[in-house]
Amino acid sequence: MAPSRKNPFTFLETLEQHVSEHRVSFHVPGHHNGTVTDHTLPSAFAKVMPYDLTELAHLDDLHDASGIIDQAEKALGKLYESKSKWLVNGSTVGNWSMLAATVKRGERVYVQRNSHKSVWNAIEWLGLEPILLTPTIERGTGIPTVVTLETIEQAVQEFPGGRAVMLTSPTYYGDMADIRAISNYLFSLEIPLLVDEAHGAHLIHPKLLQRSAIFEGASAVVQSAHKTLPALTMGAWIHYKEDIDEIRLKHALSSFQTSSPSYLIMASLDYARSYLESLTDEAWSSIQKSHAHFVLELKRAGFTVKVGDDFTKVTVMTYPKNGLVFSEHLASIGIDIELAAVDHVLFCLPLREITKQEIEHWIKLIKKAATHVPIIDEDETIFPFPQTQRVSELYTLIGNEQVQRLSFKQAIGFVSAETVIPYPPGIPWILKGERITEEKIRVLLEWISLGRKLQASKHVMIEQIDVIVEEF
Ligand SMILES: Cc1ncc(COP(=O)(O)O)c(C=O)c1O
Repeated sequence: MAPSRKNPFTFLETLEQHVSEHRVSFHVPGHHNGTVTDHTLPSAFAKVMPYDLTELAHLDDLHDASGIIDQAEKALGKLYESKSKWLVNGSTVGNWSMLAATVKRGERVYVQRNSHKSVWNAIEWLGLEPILLTPTIERGTGIPTVVTLETIEQAVQEFPGGRAVMLTSPTYYGDMADIRAISNYLFSLEIPLLVDEAHGAHLIHPKLLQRSAIFEGASAVVQSAHKTLPALTMGAWIHYKEDIDEIRLKHALSSFQTSSPSYLIMASLDYARSYLESLTDEAWSSIQKSHAHFVLELKRAGFTVKVGDDFTKVTVMTYPKNGLVFSEHLASIGIDIELAAVDHVLFCLPLREITKQEIEHWIKLIKKAATHVPIIDEDETIFPFPQTQRVSELYTLIGNEQVQRLSFKQAIGFVSAETVIPYPPGIPWILKGERITEEKIRVLLEWISLGRKLQASKHVMIEQIDVIVEEF
């Protein structure tokens, strides 16, 4: 029988109550409320362990929520004016589930070319037929941004019959698409708009210049709460509207997610929601002002700064100096950053007011790290993005194609049988099913020689790649 408790209200309070009762655990997880530990476990970690619970009767079930999880998800939905579900496997599982809920095997989907690898993996394993949408490349910085309405219109005209549009907004760099215009257009065609908003969970305040896509007409939106809110890594959520088949979505979520969802992650999701909810207009204003102050001080210190539509993403353009070396200098004095590239570094700012003292201290350190950063080698590629047509098809692989391993040089002109991903940011440079061009090979060779982190087969590191043997 469930124990009686003093009016537990939130998910976190219920966990707190459970832990305070020092109950006997004859259930998983194997640390049994944190009692199976020894002195080698750091004490802070040991304190957290009892909260790592499981689906006991009064603790609800993520995959069939009707108690405290359902209540917490409803509170989340209220905040985002939608139906919402917690995700314990990151935005990755949200992207898989949005696609599985809306597009069936063999059907067409329009996809932004600079999508995260989770989108490409889902497309491959779900057997979907992608039409690639090239994003706009930002003038000056060369950074790929978002897809325009015109590109989507062209894709729908040239390749009709797609079942969904899958966009990323905001991007890693905080650039946001015109979701209102795009969703209005797609609404008239009854094509659902799915948005990977892994970096946009915090964009809810009505006075923001651009808000989360869920307020702008998207059908489903996935957000990594753990990226921009105070949630534990892997904590994410999905928001969706009436045009999404809820039964299919729930089936996808319970198929792709673990059957043992982490109560720590879920507790942090409930906390992240309540943190966001508790931000007053004044708090929002102080946070934004302090971020703007930090950017101003960076500029005053002589840095060239790009801030996208999302005020929490700050890109420092380091050209002609080497951003990769700059980031090493930053790390050596205790500043760890989100991403470094040859000509820029990306800072993710916290969703809280940054104090004047912090800004002063940080700027001092950043200036120090910027000294003695070498100039970029003449022949290094700055921020390459594959040159493609605005809209194009990806060669759909069924899985029984004949594959051949070729040297990079020989592979030019063939269709790749594998994906190569520079990480971060996790956006494929070569997609399985994409034709290999001279440019792609040139940049790949450069990355390998520079020792850049690539997610790819071992043979790619020795300049070989698997291609499809095409029959003519
Ligand atoms: C744009 C984008 N989408 C999806 C993901 C995957 O998110 P998660 O790590 O929460 O699974 C990432 C992660 O970096 C991302 O940058």
